[in-house]
Amino acid sequence: MAEISFDGRVAIVTGAGGGLGRTYALDLARRGAKVVVNDLGGSVDGQGGSDAAAQKVVDEIKSAGGEAVPNYDSVSTPEGGENIVKTAVDAFGKVDIVINNAGILRDKSFAKMTWEDLDLVLDVHLRGAFYVSQPAFKVMKENNYGRFVFTSSNSGIFGNFGQANYGAAKLGLVGLSNVLAIEGAKANILSNCIAPVARTRMTEELLGDFAKVLDPEGVTPMVVFLASEQCTFTHETFSAAGGRYARIFIGLCKGWYGGKDTHPTAEDVLDHIDEIENQDGYIVPNNSGDELGQLLGLLSG
Ligand SMILES: NC(=O)c1ccc[n+]([C@@H]2O[C@H](COP(=O)([O-])OP(=O)(O)OC[C@H]3O[C@@H](n4cnc5c(N)ncnc54)[C@H](O)[C@@H]3O)[C@@H](O)[C@H]2O)c1
Repeated sequence: MAEISFDGRVAIVTGAGGGLGRTYALDLARRGAKVVVNDLGGSVDGQGGSDAAAQKVVDEIKSAGGEAVPNYDSVSTPEGGENIVKTAVDAFGKVDIVINNAGILRDKSFAKMTWEDLDLVLDVHLRGAFYVSQPAFKVMKENNYGRFVFTSSNSGIFGNFGQANYGAAKLGLVGLSNVLAIEGAKANILSNCIAPVARTRMTEELLGDFAKVLDPEGVTPMVVFLASEQCTFTHETFSAAGGRYARIFIGLCKGWYGGKDTHPTAEDVLDHIDEIENQDGYIVPNNSGDELGQLLGLLSG
């Protein structure tokens, strides 16, 4: 089995002071990466902050013989994002890998959600990933190498009660990753998402008994693989939980087309809804052009 090594690579892991991020930082460092351990050190709902979380993981890495530096900025501002990337460049000269992992929860049913709940969640998960990834993308482009891993969630991809803000932010990350995959391709920059499930402070109460079999370490191998040189995938999303890894994709079905010069009505849609819904022969587009290509073929007869 080929060994996956990160010798000579520099990784940023956001929100790495605990939970899933900590396991990524530890495994990357164990495999030779120089790691920026970023964490604001606040509560699950995004209050407060402390240097202790990031520092503790840096200490853990160093005492195991690895290399790491802490960063305590919030990902949720452009200045914070810039400074996280600057920390990597100042300490280690470059950035090869960004694992966008920092996150908070402000769960409320949609009718009860406040705009503050919306803003905070979008700022950390979605805007935060922009603020860290853009300065990193520029460095990666210059070096003609990069790996992004974005942390999506089944709450956004499939939907979950009480998580309108979180779900929207998490599916937004799939959109961001897909575009980075396309824009980064020429510069050997790959971008993928994971949808993890694991026992962390964020979820242990929600998961109940199921939590026992969902160690964070059951997610880590997928993330580390996606961050590696050996990974050639891009524009993909993977479920990772409890040691099971599975591709998630957005497919486009064949659909129904009435034919040239027809003017379909809502009644035609009703009459053909089974064909419109039918999943046989779907494609998995790699970009919007794949849909347009399929459509052009059909419409031009
Ligand atoms: N645990 C799960 O089952 C699960 C499921 C789906 C998605 N996720 C996602 O995985 C990621 C990691 O979550 P976790 O379960 O390890 O939770 P966690 O609370 O243990 O870890 C999140 C970390 O992000 C840090 N953080 C929060 N806001 C920050 C900010 N503005 N700047 C920098 N750091 C910040 C926190 O201090 C914390 O250490 C999150 O994005 C979460 O939404 C987790």
